[in-house]
Amino acid sequence: MALLFFLILAFCNGLGLLESSSRMRLVGGRHRCEGRVEVERDGQWGTVCDDGWDMKDVEVVCRELGCGAATGTPSGTLYKPLAEKDQKVLIQGVSCSGMESELIHCEQEEDVFDCSHSEDAGAKCEIPETVRLVGGPDHCKGRVEVKHQQQWGTVCKAGWNLSAAKVVCRQLGCGRAILTQRSCNKDTQGQGPIWLSEVSCSGQEGNLQDCSSGLWGKNNCTHDEDTWVECEDPFDLRLVGGDSRCSGRLEVLHKGEWGSVCDDGWGENEEQVVCKQLGCGESIFLSAKARRNLGLGGGRIWLDDVHCSGKEQSLEQCRHRFWGYHNCNHKEDVAMTCLEL
Ligand SMILES: *[C@@H]1O[C@H](CO)[C@@H](O)[C@H](O)[C@H]1NC(C)=O
Ligand SMILES: *[C@@H]1O[C@H](CO)[C@@H](O)[C@H](O)[C@H]1NC(C)=O
Repeated sequence: MALLFFLILAFCNGLGLLESSSRMRLVGGRHRCEGRVEVERDGQWGTVCDDGWDMKDVEVVCRELGCGAATGTPSGTLYKPLAEKDQKVLIQGVSCSGMESELIHCEQEEDVFDCSHSEDAGAKCEIPETVRLVGGPDHCKGRVEVKHQQQWGTVCKAGWNLSAAKVVCRQLGCGRAILTQRSCNKDTQGQGPIWLSEVSCSGQEGNLQDCSSGLWGKNNCTHDEDTWVECEDPFDLRLVGGDSRCSGRLEVLHKGEWGSVCDDGWGENEEQVVCKQLGCGESIFLSAKARRNLGLGGGRIWLDDVHCSGKEQSLEQCRHRFWGYHNCNHKEDVAMTCLEL
């Protein structure tokens, strides 16, 4: 009897091992559903060669990770830090029909030759929708709704505070939480179930589902108490007017509007952060003339007196004057060039 028990245990553990030896993750993206594809074999994480890598393969990756729809097959080199030199490229020639539940079930070769980390495969999937902001001007502002039993419903403001809003903003890939209030306006109130009340988050949670709350659908709230949240738009940047995406005038996205950056105090550290964030190589020194050739900007001047240590992952983390405050004109717009990888 004891032996049988042992055998069953060993068998189950064996299965467990099999499963854990085919784990997968996405690295370096803005959220867990985007990044360079890494698979685990015998305890080592390695990458996937992008020869023949296509949307069907990404669909399987998204499904296996419990993410939303597949939206792109980016190059894995976009995601920093890059794969370590001693990490192996573990599989190549991946070919999925798109219906597989896991990447390991797709056709693939484990004998990898002629493939380097410059060909690492990446995947972009949507964040699975379990929370959303609706009724506002964009997906980062609106009435909070959560999905339960395939149905969207609202969240009661009772117990809710800015820490909970912070969790929602982060989960949606938006910027900082700036406002949370009751949705007093009849036009912006929800209908249907009021799923949650007494939501209490510390602000550190990765998901609203990780916060404590009352039982689903058990509360005495009315839609007059629906929660409304506003987050800043996600920060983004780009180089425009040059001959590639790694060269041009620097523009940053704030409040849905692209604007320029003033060159007061701007230098090498700042350029390195931008190049890294764009997935380009080192910054290259540009003469004043070459800078001028990249043209003048128009519109808003969003940032001035930017100071980075050079270690930041995003320009957003560097110190700067308050958004939109500056003493510059467009002749001082930052223009720059990074090496293309
Ligand atoms: C929100 O409430 C939670 C507990 O209910 C508390 O830990 C947190 O500090 C509060 N946050 C703010 C911004 O008041
Ligand atoms: C709702 O109100 C009823 C009646 O006042 C009360 O008995 C019940 O405990 C309340 N439920 C919740 C979840 O607060």
